[in-house]
Amino acid sequence: MVNTIPTDVLVIGCGAAGLSLALRLAEVATVTALAKGTLEEGSTYYAQGGISAVVDAEDSLESHIQDTLIAGAGLCHLDSVRFTVENAREAIEWLIHQGVMFTTEARADGSIDYHLTREGGHSHRRVVHAADATGRAIQTSLEERAKAHPNITLHDHHSVIDLITTRKLGMAGNRCLGAYVLNRLTGQVEVFPARCVVLASGGASRVYLYSSNPDGSTGDGIAMAWRAGCRVANMEFMQFHPTCLYHPQAKSFLITEAVRGEGGYLLLPNGSRFMEDFDQRLELAPRDVVARAIDHEMKRLGISCVYLDISHKPADFIRSHFPTVHAKCLEYGFDMTQEPLPVVPAAHYTCGGIVTDLSGRTDMENLYAIGEAAFTGLHGANRMASNSLLECLVFAHSASEDIKVRLARVEAVPVLPAWDESRVIDSDEEVVVTHNWHELRRFMWDYVGIVRSNKRLRRAKSRVDLLLREIEEYYGHFRISADLIELRNLALVADLIVRSAMLRRESRGLHYTLDYPELDALSPPRDTVLVPGNYAGSDLPPVSWGDA
Ligand code: FAD
Ligand code: SIN
Repeated sequence: MVNTIPTDVLVIGCGAAGLSLALRLAEVATVTALAKGTLEEGSTYYAQGGISAVVDAEDSLESHIQDTLIAGAGLCHLDSVRFTVENAREAIEWLIHQGVMFTTEARADGSIDYHLTREGGHSHRRVVHAADATGRAIQTSLEERAKAHPNITLHDHHSVIDLITTRKLGMAGNRCLGAYVLNRLTGQVEVFPARCVVLASGGASRVYLYSSNPDGSTGDGIAMAWRAGCRVANMEFMQFHPTCLYHPQAKSFLITEAVRGEGGYLLLPNGSRFMEDFDQRLELAPRDVVARAIDHEMKRLGISCVYLDISHKPADFIRSHFPTVHAKCLEYGFDMTQEPLPVVPAAHYTCGGIVTDLSGRTDMENLYAIGEAAFTGLHGANRMASNSLLECLVFAHSASEDIKVRLARVEAVPVLPAWDESRVIDSDEEVVVTHNWHELRRFMWDYVGIVRSNKRLRRAKSRVDLLLREIEEYYGHFRISADLIELRNLALVADLIVRSAMLRRESRGLHYTLDYPELDALSPPRDTVLVPGNYAGSDLPPVSWGDA
């Protein structure tokens, strides 16, 4: 007996994007939101630094816009940047209304206001935060609200395998009808018919061996949308966070950029600062610049890490601003009030993704994408710190408004067929999955990392082609598992990253290649838009050029 669970809106993802959309819609529709592990196991929970927003009287929207455009290295879409920045204040107020407790400070005149921290690329203090665990504060508040709402149903341990579309069923039109979902608790594949489907499934940084992200950042939504016939853009711009703790057991634990924002220095093993050799903004240059500088120094000197030092600040200041980072580092034997922390870059954020408009619409009718899975044009060639949670919230809001209108005219979902398992058997060799998983992440790290070259990309391409063939064959023969779903998606996303990187014959933002080390000054800046073979056209405005 197949479990069929119909809903008005199916939200794939329970992070900042998915939960805020669910809450914004629940007054007018039934919403079912899925998470493939526990509810909090997305990137949102781990976010440290905060959310950027112009809330200080001395700051300005124009300044936030300019900083975002500069970080984005000529590829940001001005309409998207303006839209996001202008809606930031409302997003923060909405979060406060949901119960999120941001850090406050007493002002000289005795009033209490939100404390604003500074991060790379921002020319002003404008990052609203909850100490150094902003994501935890957001995730727990939104989860609590969503669990209490009678119109929202949350299912954890449910991994979406693929979208169900009219075209896959041989029907007319280009419409999304729902999804096939592996219930990891029962092992059954369930059917979720939905009038609208929202991909809020996060990024793909786990395609690399070392990443600040939780294990589930495997680009599932991006891969599913591509298979369904949607365009993806700018996948070459994978962001590496400059400072993750270097320790064999730390699993790339992030040391927030706010440590540098509050005065931390980057040091070589001999104690000397080195950022002045790379950028006049020193430790607060945008992330691509800092990560490349660290990578350069590590390779030049043959060292395994550099150091981040804030021990010159008072110990009380450090403990109160960075309680989570301080406690975590102590677990690994480092006291940041007394000594520098060993740090290395690690894959952190997916700037590209599923092509959407300002309402989160994709190329497919009734299918939306928001949050890190989406490409809205906001980040250009490099995301500025703390603009990501902001994008999740702003686009969850605009998509929810669009969905409210659309629901009134969406046709009923037809009866959907059950998942076909008639031709598959249980796997006899799970080692294929674990081996391919490791191999993929290793060569992506070595060949498609912070510094690329034509030769490295060609090597990666031939390996990814082989893996894709092997994984598809395996997928066709054996019963589905959570690991296989992720591996299949990771391999596809790796292919999209490599193909996009091969198409960009210049160095811009996060994409740096030895063969074209300069910006292509002769042609206008251009997005890398990949079009799938089964693309059926689109109602979205054309996407090809950056505006800045
Ligand atoms: P996520 O929060 O990653 O959630 C994805 C959801 O999708 C999860 O619930 C997951 O289970 C679900 N999912 C995925 N695939 C499937 C599937 N196949 N089936 C079912 N469910 C699925 N950004 C900032 O702006 N400020 C910061 O300070 C900041 N700090 C960060 C620190 C760290 C350590 C990390 C990793 C990221 C940080 N970021 C920060 C980035 C930011 O946290 C993320 O971009 C953002 O949280 C993404 O939110 P999301 O809702 O799009 O996805
Ligand atoms: C950090 O706290 O350094 C992460 C901020 C971000 O990714 O925006």
